[in-house]
Amino acid sequence: MIWRAEAIWEAVAPLLPGFTVEVLPLLDSTNTELMRRARKGLGDPVLLVAEQQNAGRGRLGRDWLSSAGDSLTFSLGLPLAPADWSGLSLAVGASVAEALHPDIVLKWPNDLWLGDRKLGGILIETASFGDGAAGARYAVIGIGLNIAPRPPGGLSTPPAALRELLPQADGPAVLERIAGPLVRDVQRFERDGFAAFRHRFEQRDALRGRAVQLSDGTAGTAQGVDAGGSLLVHTAAGLQAISSSEVSVRPAAR
Ligand code: BTN
Repeated sequence: MIWRAEAIWEAVAPLLPGFTVEVLPLLDSTNTELMRRARKGLGDPVLLVAEQQNAGRGRLGRDWLSSAGDSLTFSLGLPLAPADWSGLSLAVGASVAEALHPDIVLKWPNDLWLGDRKLGGILIETASFGDGAAGARYAVIGIGLNIAPRPPGGLSTPPAALRELLPQADGPAVLERIAGPLVRDVQRFERDGFAAFRHRFEQRDALRGRAVQLSDGTAGTAQGVDAGGSLLVHTAAGLQAISSSEVSVRPAAR
């Protein structure tokens, strides 16, 4: 695969001094690698792409499976000091979806969906800097996108792939489309918080108005998100704001 790392660097470096782009053929996980580097004190802004991951990670300790050429797996690592971190994954989702296609919707808190099928996921982790200077942490924003359709495997719902919407899509072209807007939006989030993204998320909220089931057993109807990006669910016990990253939500069958 041919990655135009220089074009990405040219678009992003003016926004992020010290920024580099790195493409590796194989890694355990781009998130794991950037967290390892951060723990060693390496806190420069970087976009790290792995053509293949053999220990990709998803939310809630799940695996993220992908194969070379059929998916795009990368992480953006950078120092970040927002006043409030809540809603960052929603802002990232909105940025990526908008950069790619109007039909991509967002499933709270960090999935990209096509219809009711998963197209991609976002895994955000942070590491503290030694001195905790001015509240800044090193943020690792990992994104995995299915580019080419693959067999459903053991998943109950077969995943979606970007080529269903963009037949010519490949990893390098998709990354080139996403990278600049993503960095700009993450910097906007740092400045203005989730307030700047609430409307953008709502435009693509896949759950709004739908019956949902929480992993703790609660059932209800999704009613959008609040100002901090918590999911609002109307339940028998009243309106609940779900912020816990430990809770998973799925829509009831239509
Ligand atoms: C999820 O859906 O639970 C999140 C999936 C995130 C996958 C990406 S692929 C690049 C980065 N490296 C990882 O190990 N995970 C993220």
